[in-house]
Amino acid sequence: MSLPSLSRVAAPPDPILGLAEAFRNDPRPDKVNLSAGVFVDETGKTPMLASVIEAERRLADAATTKLYLPIDGNAVYRDLVRELALGKDHEAVTSGRALATQTPGGTGGLRVAADFLRQTGAGDTLWMSEPTWPNHPQLFQAAGFRIRAYPYTDATGRRIDEEAMLAALGQASPGDIVLLHGACHNPTGVDPSPDLWRRIGDLVEERHILPLVDLAYQGFGDGLAEDAAGLHELARPGAELLVSTSFSKTFSLYAERVGALIVIARSAADANAAQSHVKAAVRVNYSNPPAHGADIVRTILADPALRPQWETELAGMRARIKDNRRALVAALEARRIPGDWSGIATQRGMFALLGLDAHQVARLKDEHAVYVVGKGRINVAGFTQANLPVFADALAKVVGQG
Ligand code: LMR
Repeated sequence: MSLPSLSRVAAPPDPILGLAEAFRNDPRPDKVNLSAGVFVDETGKTPMLASVIEAERRLADAATTKLYLPIDGNAVYRDLVRELALGKDHEAVTSGRALATQTPGGTGGLRVAADFLRQTGAGDTLWMSEPTWPNHPQLFQAAGFRIRAYPYTDATGRRIDEEAMLAALGQASPGDIVLLHGACHNPTGVDPSPDLWRRIGDLVEERHILPLVDLAYQGFGDGLAEDAAGLHELARPGAELLVSTSFSKTFSLYAERVGALIVIARSAADANAAQSHVKAAVRVNYSNPPAHGADIVRTILADPALRPQWETELAGMRARIKDNRRALVAALEARRIPGDWSGIATQRGMFALLGLDAHQVARLKDEHAVYVVGKGRINVAGFTQANLPVFADALAKVVGQG
């Protein structure tokens, strides 16, 4: 027996994490990493939140066992996560027709969602925005979905082309799945208006399309409640949908792999039946989730002092990202780099898409040690006063000056 012949040829590096790896191996001292979505403070470090440090201290003091968790995770965590996304008094929560499963990060939640859907006979067509997070197409293709793209931003890249988006989704067949970014669209930073969310909600209802909401940045846009407004529009009475959440960014728990998949069904009975299939999908994948990250999140969310402390820390990260956005626009405008960059200042979340071509992206890396993702997606949360001028100077050389 021998390994498959394809295994002897290296796979292409991951479009995001592959860059992070290349960055680590780059010996140039002034290198700038704007690839993976990771928050850094003014010193360029990704600190642990004080609320997390305190929760870990309490957990360490109280720890008695490393027993397996249930397949669907910690019950307290599952309830708290569902309430964070939907609100404690939301009808889908109080009726029991929304049930959460603890997953290893948002990627884990998406993959469990994909397996659950394929294993319970969902349609094989999944619609995603063009552009989207590069892991979306590869993840859903690996799970057996046929991918269809719906257009998202217009030619400026700064506004949603609402009519084009809705027209494309109008082509979807009943039973198709549509992947939506709940807030802080990755990579564009451009989110639907309340009116567009309403129109999306009407369309999925009329066409019997199942929404899958990727909610990886709740609280990084305008606030915890504000960033869940689109999800609320979709979670109408009787509506069915899936939600994948992640706490990598908002609790700065990147390495702990903590997230959830929430299934919102028509009734509590349906939700319980669906949950049994979600558990089956988890069991054959990673058996049951790792405990520590979820222990931290549930400790914070359930504690009357730690929760407001975390919300303040989250607001601080959000404010810093907004400041970085304004500083970036000022730096690009000061260098008279051709283009209208002003919209970046009011976009949401960690990312902005500069609309660069592959050659420009390669020149940034090869000539200036500046790492950005394809088409010039940059992690705005990665700027400091030290690296912003380095980036802006490099961009001016690559794009030219007006
Ligand atoms: C990103 O888009 O950079 C983050 O979500 C990190 C990742 O896993 O790709």
